Amino acid sequence: MAKTKSVFFCKECGNESPKWIGHCPGCGAWNSYVEESVVVGKDKSAKNMIAVASKAKPVKVQDISSAKETRLDLECGELNRVLGGGLVPGSLILLGGEPGIGKSTLLLQVALRLRDKKVLYVSGEESAQQIKMRAERIGIANENCLILTETNTTEIIRHFEDVKPDIAIIDSIQTLESSAVDSTAGSISQIRETAAEMNKVAKSLHVPTFLIGHITKDGSIAGPKILEHIVDAVIQFEGDRHYGFRVLRTIKNRFGSSSELGIFEMNANGLREVSNPSEILLSQRDEQVSGISVAATLEGLRPMMIETQALVSTAAYGTPQRSCTGFDTRRLNMLLAVLEKRAGFRLSMKDVFLNIAGGLRVDDPAIDLAVVAAILSSNEDIEISNRYSFAAEVGLSGEIRSVNRIEARIAEADKLGMEKIFVSKYNCRGLDTSKYNVEIVPLATIGDLIKNM
Ligand code: TYD
Ligand code: MG
Repeated sequence: MAKTKSVFFCKECGNESPKWIGHCPGCGAWNSYVEESVVVGKDKSAKNMIAVASKAKPVKVQDISSAKETRLDLECGELNRVLGGGLVPGSLILLGGEPGIGKSTLLLQVALRLRDKKVLYVSGEESAQQIKMRAERIGIANENCLILTETNTTEIIRHFEDVKPDIAIIDSIQTLESSAVDSTAGSISQIRETAAEMNKVAKSLHVPTFLIGHITKDGSIAGPKILEHIVDAVIQFEGDRHYGFRVLRTIKNRFGSSSELGIFEMNANGLREVSNPSEILLSQRDEQVSGISVAATLEGLRPMMIETQALVSTAAYGTPQRSCTGFDTRRLNMLLAVLEKRAGFRLSMKDVFLNIAGGLRVDDPAIDLAVVAAILSSNEDIEISNRYSFAAEVGLSGEIRSVNRIEARIAEADKLGMEKIFVSKYNCRGLDTSKYNVEIVPLATIGDLIKNM
């Protein structure tokens, strides 16, 4: 006889415990256990619905046909790039992102564009009418795109077998329910079970499947470790909702590089691919203003020119304010301390505000030099030409340090017709400067920057 009992799960890694514990022995997270009721001794026949998957037998590696060449073109360059050159048959991809960022829009748009592929869009979040309204907004009609509003996995799998879609989209994993577990949709045991079931179907029926997953407040996809090891790829849709830009990032990819990046812009009629980010991220300013510099950064493998803006003003209160958008505040404090100690600028009584244009977040250390340049420019009220760009890390002793893939950064500056690019002198060893029209200015210390600016 089936009976219900209480079990505790770790939100981070899915570890199970019969009682609540404060510190997870599995992943080391604190206060991550939540209570869920599960049914014990229940007939697990629902799991056997996917009988196809269990008929596997050992085969030699050389006898397995390679699936490498048969990547599916999604007719969306940015998404193809993030997936490592298209969709691998039978793969399960998790698309994570905060609510309202545009996950449903992105995948519905892809589904509608693929006219010669049968796409099954399973929605547990919105009604068919709501999806229709969205499709009208995107403005593409496609009769090969089927919409199914269903949340029970057994039913969904039945439809998969019926329809035999070329691609399936599940919106979202948090709404799916499996009969094999008794807890509510969105709970850890349900997410784990339904994702595992969808993975089995994707593999056995060779239907590449996208799972949409909402991100919790602290930025994890319903406990990333629960899903990450089940799926083949995790891609994340990010961006500031107040700006149009959306960045699609690869977090994990079994079939490609995990440092790829796609850029989109949200418009009134869907998402537009942005294939030349630098040209859009640099504002077309005519007059020169102080406090702005251009950083030659790399997002993943992709070079991007980003405008960095700083405002330095005398503090109105005793404690100066330091505030950053798109940059780490601790890093800013460190750079300010370096400027104070190594270059003699009195910034300790100044408010400093820093802003990365376009609502983007930059982790690339090569942006340091542009940040320093923008701060100095604002502090001294001397403008920097918008045809100068910067790419170097700044060390604690005020030294200008080398950064990775400098050629890609210089090439991007060159492509955009920049006049100068300021780099570390250590990056210039063995660099063929004659290839580029842009003047490469090697720097050793912050003092050199001030002399050359
Ligand atoms: P949505 O795809 O519903 O987000 P998610 O599935 O990640 O929760 O996107 C919703 C937002 O996108 C909403 O604020 C409206 C906006 N949007 C546009 O600006 N243009 C469009 O063409 C569409 C369809 C949505
Ligand atoms: Mg949605």
